[in-house]
Amino acid sequence: MAEINLSMAAQNALPSGVRRMFELAKRYPDAINLTLGEPGFATPDHIIEAGIRGLREGKTKYTPNAGIRELREAIADKLWRENGIKCDPEKNLIVTAGATQALMLAMVTLVNPGDEVIIQGPNWPDYRGQIDMVNGKTVYAKVDEKNDFKMTADVIEPLITEKTKLIIINSPSNPTGSVLDEEELRDIAELVKKYKVFLISDEPYEKLVYDGFCQKSIGAFEGLEDYVLTINSLSKTFAMTGFRVGYICANEHIIENLIKLHENMIASIPEPMQMAAIQAIRHGGADVARMVEYYDRNRRLIVDGLNRINGFRCLCPKGAFYVFPNITGFGMSSVEAAEYILEKTHVVTSPGSAFGPDGEGYIRICYASKYEQIKEALERMEREFGKK
Ligand SMILES: Cc1ncc(COP(=O)(O)O)c(C=O)c1O
Repeated sequence: MAEINLSMAAQNALPSGVRRMFELAKRYPDAINLTLGEPGFATPDHIIEAGIRGLREGKTKYTPNAGIRELREAIADKLWRENGIKCDPEKNLIVTAGATQALMLAMVTLVNPGDEVIIQGPNWPDYRGQIDMVNGKTVYAKVDEKNDFKMTADVIEPLITEKTKLIIINSPSNPTGSVLDEEELRDIAELVKKYKVFLISDEPYEKLVYDGFCQKSIGAFEGLEDYVLTINSLSKTFAMTGFRVGYICANEHIIENLIKLHENMIASIPEPMQMAAIQAIRHGGADVARMVEYYDRNRRLIVDGLNRINGFRCLCPKGAFYVFPNITGFGMSSVEAAEYILEKTHVVTSPGSAFGPDGEGYIRICYASKYEQIKEALERMEREFGKK
């Protein structure tokens, strides 16, 4: 092939450590894949119907860049009712293609080359990829298993420098499932005010919480209006990953600028998908409760199961649908352990190092799939590696 001079962003992009496991798993027809953060449920019918209605009604044109008014109203109601965040649907909201594009858009709007962005380590890999795309510098706030993997203010503060532009928090967290409570969020809010840095609260797992935990939003605290961008998505909550609908709530000035760049990036989200999102937000509560109950059963099954098997040590996470067990008991790197588990049991997991350098020593397992599959995966691993 002729030499092709691609951008530095393309050349520097890191290959996905999860993708490699997918490739290896193709060798095994009976593989049980517990890698992807994808709800095991079909999207509820009434939500699909709302999208189909949009198509039939000919909603096939561009919409306003910020999203259709009815969806912004539904989001604003939700944010006030459930999160205590006051927001004007005309001024403080933009609808995006999931949280992924919301984050990229925010990154392009806030971060200049050389600016430092603090994220949790281990982290959702796309944060790092996006920071690289805007030539920012990733600063990892390493979280500790002994402190339930929490990215608390005392972990963040020593990392703040005059170059710090943005902090990203993600509670409940991917990949660890850890959550931050109200007091811990308040301490982070104080940091934001003290150092006057932007903060993104990435909340796609907000509803996937267990043991009576209720996830608060940092964007509801007083005095943070100029600094906090609340990002959320319908993907995980309503089993709508393929619909690609998310949003950002922020102050008017930030939103005006996000809208300009959103126009350049993607223009608008398909209207039928926005109509499905209205249906989900206004009428999907019972579906979410049903799915969370199911995930909770899976969560208890997998935590108990892993803690019985040689080589694993697993915390019981309070949120999201991932466990992040310590696998140092295998005496291997996380890539080696994930490959070994695959080879011996045909169970596909993600090596912790796919979630940044601080993920070494762990693997990530998604428990959003069917209960029976998880049970079978645990039985295979227990047979192969033995009981403690
Ligand atoms: C922490 C986190 N943020 C954002 C996203 C993006 O989700 P989506 O673009 O589907 O809304 C994901 C998806 O896995 C995630 O885990």
